Amino acid sequence: MIKFLKLALLFLSISVSAQQGGMWIPSLLNGMNEQDMTALGSKLTAEDIYSINKSSLKDAIGHFNGGCTSEVISSKGLLLTNHHCGFGQIQSHSSLENDYLKDGFWAKNLSEELPNKGLFVQFIVRIDDVTTSVLSGVNDAMTEKQKQSIIDRNSASVQKAVKREAWQETKVKSFFKGNQYFLFVTETYNDIRLVGAPPSSIGKFGSDTDNWVFPRHTGDFSLFRIYADKNNRPAEYSKDNVPYTPKHFLPVSLDGIAEDDFTMVFGFPGRTNEYLPAVAVAQITQKVNPSNIRIREAALKVMDAAMKKDDKIRIQYASKQARIANYWKKWIGENQGIEKSNAIAKKKAFETEFRKKVIEKGLGDKYGSILSDFDRLYNAYEQFAVGRSNFLEIFYRNNELMRMMMFLNDLEYSAQQGTAQFEKARTSLKGRMQGIYKNYNVEVDKDIFKALMPLYTSEKIDADKIYATDYVDANKGLKMLDGSMTEVIERINNDDTYLFLKGKMEYFNSRLNPQFMEIGERIAAVQKKYMTALMEVMPSDRYYPDANSTLRVTYGKVKGYSPRDAVYYNPVSYLDGVIEKYVPGDYEFDVPQRLIDLYKAKDYGQYADSNGKVPVCFIGTNHTTGGNSGSPAIDAHGNLIGLNFDRVWEGTMSDMNYDPEICRNIMVDVRYVLFIIDKYAGAKHLIDEMKLVHPKKNK
Ligand code: ARG
Ligand code: GLU
Repeated sequence: MIKFLKLALLFLSISVSAQQGGMWIPSLLNGMNEQDMTALGSKLTAEDIYSINKSSLKDAIGHFNGGCTSEVISSKGLLLTNHHCGFGQIQSHSSLENDYLKDGFWAKNLSEELPNKGLFVQFIVRIDDVTTSVLSGVNDAMTEKQKQSIIDRNSASVQKAVKREAWQETKVKSFFKGNQYFLFVTETYNDIRLVGAPPSSIGKFGSDTDNWVFPRHTGDFSLFRIYADKNNRPAEYSKDNVPYTPKHFLPVSLDGIAEDDFTMVFGFPGRTNEYLPAVAVAQITQKVNPSNIRIREAALKVMDAAMKKDDKIRIQYASKQARIANYWKKWIGENQGIEKSNAIAKKKAFETEFRKKVIEKGLGDKYGSILSDFDRLYNAYEQFAVGRSNFLEIFYRNNELMRMMMFLNDLEYSAQQGTAQFEKARTSLKGRMQGIYKNYNVEVDKDIFKALMPLYTSEKIDADKIYATDYVDANKGLKMLDGSMTEVIERINNDDTYLFLKGKMEYFNSRLNPQFMEIGERIAAVQKKYMTALMEVMPSDRYYPDANSTLRVTYGKVKGYSPRDAVYYNPVSYLDGVIEKYVPGDYEFDVPQRLIDLYKAKDYGQYADSNGKVPVCFIGTNHTTGGNSGSPAIDAHGNLIGLNFDRVWEGTMSDMNYDPEICRNIMVDVRYVLFIIDKYAGAKHLIDEMKLVHPKKNK
């Protein structure tokens, strides 16, 4: 008995100490990661997750349009991702008559599935460590530029040498700040069709008020299908293409989750910065974020008011507003989390420890100046980092006329490089301008301009004059780009609005940007050295590479958390919460009548939890970031249990400082996805395509 207790205790201590946090490289899970996962309850082997000899989980995971993640969930190439990842496509098929954003969209059969120009999904065929080849010939006596040129050359030859099929692509990516390199062989599918999307009142329920927070009740999913040619290979859109047969697809679990269950999230996280010095975290949260937040706040106020007044503007601005609001709110939460977790003081204490160890180990000559170099460089960097970021917010991200003028400025620059460059730039420019004109609204844009200028300069600027330009009109604006190179360049230089922006760009190009780049490069060199030093000076710590849009595995548990004193969030939310939040007619919290009816009738089919309620969302300790949207949440056996789409507010600081106490990712429970497809939309044929499993009941 005592012996048994001891064993149980031992097991408990192993499972408690298993690392949570970290975005791991799927081809390197053997060993410690596999042990961690097992300790957390996983039954999967490293080979089940990533293998080049047999089909494995990784074959079901696709990089969705370069920015999100998606997963194959049927033998016929059915693809699941977030509603907000497919939002642009859903919007572009929408009009006032066929408003798929508002009403949802469900293809009844293959022939109704809608093609999407430009949309692509990329799979990873293999990942190889090519560090030795890439760094061969590089030595410490070289300048960063010399090193980079050898690295570029080596990367090119590594890519040439790898065995691949004719339709596959290759790329080499840097990890650990240039301390390690991996080669990726990929396969990209370009015929991706829209299959289904819930109405925004489900897929975007709670909109900005609920964005980045828990308790959450959003059914943030949409469905696509991958099409391939007759040989199952990537092909441009053709009506002759057929549904793709995947190497692997995820079975879908109907058994649900409970607190402390193992979860793994498999996807393409975009960018994190876990190894920043305290001085950088302070600069980002105390200088860069606050001024950017102010700028977006001013722009959003204008957009929100216009969208509420007019349905046409609501559709025109839906995508743009969501994009602007998303990071506005994220930065606020990030600042709160850094504050709440005392991250800067903790980083400083850690740096003191690091400094001590450097001296103890006699590495002062090599690494002794790193921290003071950071201090000096970040000090010099501040005005340029803040200035440049604010400039781009004001003239590029939040105002469309100014963005078009920036495009024209690029065009003028390309003209200096000759007609060939100019022609290429003109073609791409026309596409980008058309993209803006498609949803352009002069009045709203002008009001945004008026709201933002005072945040840039105290100089009085006459918005009426700026908006008198022909470029506010799609037909005239595009026509101005016709004619010979000389004509076009002369014409744009006769436009006062263009000249206004050009004046601002001169300052940006001659001062802000070059200084930012130059100091930034020096910081990157120190950051690289810091990474090397950390691994050498504190070798027993666990290191994982920052996210860089490559495929990663993160794992943890289903877990509640305490955001504030005396408040505890259960890890699972239910349909009852949707009804609690319901505000009839509200643009964020309206609920479709059909969903209310299903709730009242308790018509839940096989999708309710053991307590009789339909689960909607749940949270876990998986370390995720932007790009992990649409990533599958996978159970201990490799089945789909949920769909990642967000993080809790204070936890968004995990991009700089992961803390298992308050960092949680938010997932839609897959049973809610199935419930909406089946019971709400009546698209049972899609459920029939999937492989539904009962891993817990069959145990
Ligand atoms: N916060 C999530 C992410 O970063 C969801 C964003 C979409 N939703 C929204 N209300 N803007 O992408
Ligand atoms: N919503 C984010 C995305 O689009 C994922 C949430 C996060 O940043 O953690 O990738």
